[in-house]
Amino acid sequence: MAKIVGGMFVSHVPAIGGAIARNLQEDPYWKPFFDGFPPVHRWLEEVKPDVAVVFYNDHGLNFFLDKMPTFAVGAAPQYHNADEGWGIPTLPPYDGAPDLSWSLIEKLVDKEFDPVSCQEMLVDHAFTLPLKLFWPQEGTCPVRLVPVCINTVQHPLPKASRCYKLGEAVGEAIAEWDEDLRVVVIGTGGLSHQLDGERAGFINRDFDLAFMESLIHDPQWATQYSIEEIVEKTGTQGVELLNWLGARGALPPTVSKVHANYHIPISNTAAGLLVVGTGE
Ligand code: DHB
Ligand code: FE
Repeated sequence: MAKIVGGMFVSHVPAIGGAIARNLQEDPYWKPFFDGFPPVHRWLEEVKPDVAVVFYNDHGLNFFLDKMPTFAVGAAPQYHNADEGWGIPTLPPYDGAPDLSWSLIEKLVDKEFDPVSCQEMLVDHAFTLPLKLFWPQEGTCPVRLVPVCINTVQHPLPKASRCYKLGEAVGEAIAEWDEDLRVVVIGTGGLSHQLDGERAGFINRDFDLAFMESLIHDPQWATQYSIEEIVEKTGTQGVELLNWLGARGALPPTVSKVHANYHIPISNTAAGLLVVGTGE
């Protein structure tokens, strides 16, 4: 049976790709951010996942405003990255786990979630950079991937409680998958940031830290808030924390904290990192 070994949650900012490409990990601007990752690398060597299910949002690379699914699940043998215009290197393709993807899609439809199934899917910085941070070695990412894409871009967005329930359904589907696989779930994006409008540069440290803490001890805490309240508290793009809630929903109620880091700012974003284990 497939087992979920833990969850990893991290912000995604295109500038991280530039910093990696230019080896700026020790630069004073970047060091407090990159210093968060060695404990995560050590944990990954212990738990040795085979597959990562990645909850993220696409920013216009695979989906655009003309066709915007609320939820989409990749079911491709490979996922390619492509130039989004940020001037960062395009990363090598990722191996998929299409059998597991289809099982997730079947079970999600059965539970009335109706994701778009994608047998071809380009993956953007929200997918590629967290994977590069977690597995920084040269070449291909060493785990197989299942992308779960949540619309955090064009309103109406799915409510926080619904994203959490999507995650619960994904977690149940993984537990029912009859193959001896070790699975890690990943949520990317956030934490508080607003890139546009009157509140550009908005950051809410108190809310971010309360949210990170809630994922350990009270995982449904943020589901009390409407989308409008989350935007108010975290900024227009801070609502990407929906991806964290999706990933958290896939984990059992009780988890233990492995590591956390929080640093302001990376670009205009409050950068959060959290890893929790299930004990598997
Ligand atoms: C930034 C943050 C994002 O989440 C993103 O997708 C693009 C840019 C930023 O902080 O610059
Ligand atoms: Fe983003």
